[in-house]
Amino acid sequence: MATRIKGRNRRPIDREVVLDMLAQRTPDYSLEQAFYNDQDLFDIDMEGIFSQQWLFAGLTCEIPKKGNYLTLDIGDNGIIIVRGDDDTVYAHHNTCRHRGSKICLEHRGKVAKLVCPYHQWTYNTDGQLIYAGQEMGIDFDKTKFSLKPVHCRTAGGYIYISLASSAPPPIDDFLVDMAHYLEPYDLENAKVAVESVMIEEANWKLVIENNRECYHCDASHPELLGSLLEWDDTHDPRASEEFKALVAEKQLLWHEDNIPYEHKSAYGNRNRIVRMPLKMGVHSMTMDGKVACKKLLGRIKSPDLGSMRILHLPNSWSHALGDHIIAFQVIPLGPQLTKVVTKWLVHKDAAEGVDYDPVNLRKVWDATNDQDRILGENNQLGVNSQAYTPGPYSKTFEFGVINFVDWYAETLQNHLSI
Ligand code: FES
Ligand SMILES: [Fe+2]
Repeated sequence: MATRIKGRNRRPIDREVVLDMLAQRTPDYSLEQAFYNDQDLFDIDMEGIFSQQWLFAGLTCEIPKKGNYLTLDIGDNGIIIVRGDDDTVYAHHNTCRHRGSKICLEHRGKVAKLVCPYHQWTYNTDGQLIYAGQEMGIDFDKTKFSLKPVHCRTAGGYIYISLASSAPPPIDDFLVDMAHYLEPYDLENAKVAVESVMIEEANWKLVIENNRECYHCDASHPELLGSLLEWDDTHDPRASEEFKALVAEKQLLWHEDNIPYEHKSAYGNRNRIVRMPLKMGVHSMTMDGKVACKKLLGRIKSPDLGSMRILHLPNSWSHALGDHIIAFQVIPLGPQLTKVVTKWLVHKDAAEGVDYDPVNLRKVWDATNDQDRILGENNQLGVNSQAYTPGPYSKTFEFGVINFVDWYAETLQNHLSI
C-alpha cells in the first residue's frame, strides 16, 4: 500500500499537526488528504478512535453456549469474546499473562477453559488464571495474573467492546434504546445464516462516508433500490408526499403490533436508530422484494416491518427487516485497507433449504457491498492524487457524511487535547 507521497517534503504528522489540521478544516468539506491515506494519521486514528470508542464486536447468538468464543483483532490488539460459565459475555485481551502468547488462535470455538498453547497456563472463562504448573513455584500468586479485561456490554443481542484503558465513553442510553428496539427480534434465538468478509482498498473513513449517503445509489445500486427508499426522515426536504403517506400508514400498523419505529439518536451523531418503510409492496431486501426467510424472527408476526436502520459510529450499521437482519462491521487494517464483515441473521430454527436459501438471502447486499467497494477504492485512488483537495458535501444529500465527519473530528480533537 502506498502511504507516503514520494519526494514531497512534509512535516511528520504528529498530535499537534492533526490538531492544527482539524482546527483549520473547512466545515462541510471532506478532510485533508492525509486523513485518508497516511500511516501516521492511521496510527492516530487507531489510538484515538479505535482504542477508545465502543466498537461493534459481534452478536450474542454467535456464542450461544457457555465456553463459545469468538476473536477479533483491532490493530495489534487481539480480543477474545467468550460466554462465561455464568452466562455473562466477557471480553479479554487475547494475550497470555505469562510471556504474552496469543491464546485463542481460531476465529471461533468452544472451550471449557482458555488454555495458552505455549506453556498451558489456563484461565477460567471470566479471565482468572487457575493453572500455571508446578514450574512457577509454590509461592506463585495466580490471582495477580488474570487475563486483562476489555470493556464489554451487550444489548438486544449486539456486543460492544472498548479498549479504553480507563473509563470508556458513555453508552448506557444507546444500550437502553437497542434493547427496546431489538426486543421484537429476540436475537438470543437467532443465528448467523451467512457471513461475508470483504477487504476494501480504502481508508475506513471513506468506507463509512460512502455508507452515510445515498447520493451515489441511483447510479450504482440497482439491486438495493429494488427495496430501499433512501430517505430516513419525513423531515428530509426531498421526501415526497407519497413517502410521507406511506410512513404514516406503516407506522399505524407497527404501532398496533408494538414495533418501535420512532427516530432515536444518542450521543450526538454517534448512534441513530429509525424504522422506515421499504418500497411499496416490498417486505425484504431481496431481488423480488419477498421475504428471504419464511420463519420470522422473535415475536414478529408480519414481515411488513420496513427496515430498522441502526448506526453505531465508528464501525457499524445494520438493517433489521421482518425476516432477517443484516449487520455490518468495519475493521481498519491499514491507511488504505479496511475489512467489512457482513452477517445475515435469521431465526435460529429456520432451516436452510426449507425456510431460506442462503444465495437468495445474501444476493442484494453482496451486490451492494461489491459496488460500494469499487466506489470506495476509486475514491481512494483519486484522493491519493496530488490534485486532491477537500471538496464540498451536499447539505441535502450528504448530511449523514457531514454528521460522521463532524463526529470524527470532534472525537479525535477531544482525545488529542487531553
Ligand atoms: S506464554 Fe502463555 S503459558 Fe507461556
Ligand atoms: Fe452504497
